Amino acid sequence: MGNDANIEQKYIKNVDNLVPRPDLAFDVLSMAHNTNCNFNELAGKIEQDPNLTANMLRLANSAYYGHMRAITSVKDIIVRLGLEAVKLLAITSASVGLMKSPQEAYNLEPGSLWYHSHASAVLSSVIAKFAKISDMGSVYTASLLHDIGKVLLNRPLQLAISNLKTKPAKKFSNLVELEFTLLQTDHAKVGKALLDKWGLPDHISDPVGNHHSPEIDESGDVESKIVYLSNFLVESVGIRSMSPENYTFNVQEFIDQNQALPNVPNFQTNMETIMSEFFTQFNETTNIF
Ligand SMILES: [Fe+2]
Ligand SMILES: [Fe+2]
Repeated sequence: MGNDANIEQKYIKNVDNLVPRPDLAFDVLSMAHNTNCNFNELAGKIEQDPNLTANMLRLANSAYYGHMRAITSVKDIIVRLGLEAVKLLAITSASVGLMKSPQEAYNLEPGSLWYHSHASAVLSSVIAKFAKISDMGSVYTASLLHDIGKVLLNRPLQLAISNLKTKPAKKFSNLVELEFTLLQTDHAKVGKALLDKWGLPDHISDPVGNHHSPEIDESGDVESKIVYLSNFLVESVGIRSMSPENYTFNVQEFIDQNQALPNVPNFQTNMETIMSEFFTQFNETTNIF
């Protein structure tokens, strides 16, 4: 293996300014994991960050959560929406800032990576619900952060492309192949390395590292399969960028064209319902940031 094993370390070394660890959101996640946690302490923790608080309130008042009476405080969020929702709201609200910037090397306009990541996370949570996964928050988080490696590789990839003296002889069949040829690693591996550095558990960082590895169908854990599947589906729908109103999706056509998808419990049989729940939830939550 030699240096190869550490190539990702090179890209995450000075990452703190580019992608600062969302410390507070991670603290909130672990506090809210304990069902007996003290609500006042949890609210106090969240309120330490006015941005996080504002984002969480905006999301909690979106059409998706659909409350007659406005949610006006963090305590309100905790009491009325529950701890599971607090986890999703916190990690979503903290991730917006990490992913709103353009990623030129990937042809991603401002906001595009956020749309795509948010869509994948929402779809993951619906697939996970049907698959009866108990720790849905972790699958959601992994999906939300699955492409975070692109933020780290954007500059190096731009540089590598502009330094190419001659056009590569062969056309790359996909993005990962291009990254690997020019940078000797890819955004999935670098994303996993970052999440490991942040101290996130394997069941969150592994799905990030695996999200472009079709072989997970034989050996992978169900979380990896869901993150792989939701990224693939969201890309098939066309959510790489733009606003989400005009997407169409034909379930039968998709199944006909994609025979070798990872096998996730209750997915194929419920695909129609899963996709329609996804579209509703995505449309109701995505344009508020
Ligand atoms: Fe990716
Ligand atoms: Fe992706």
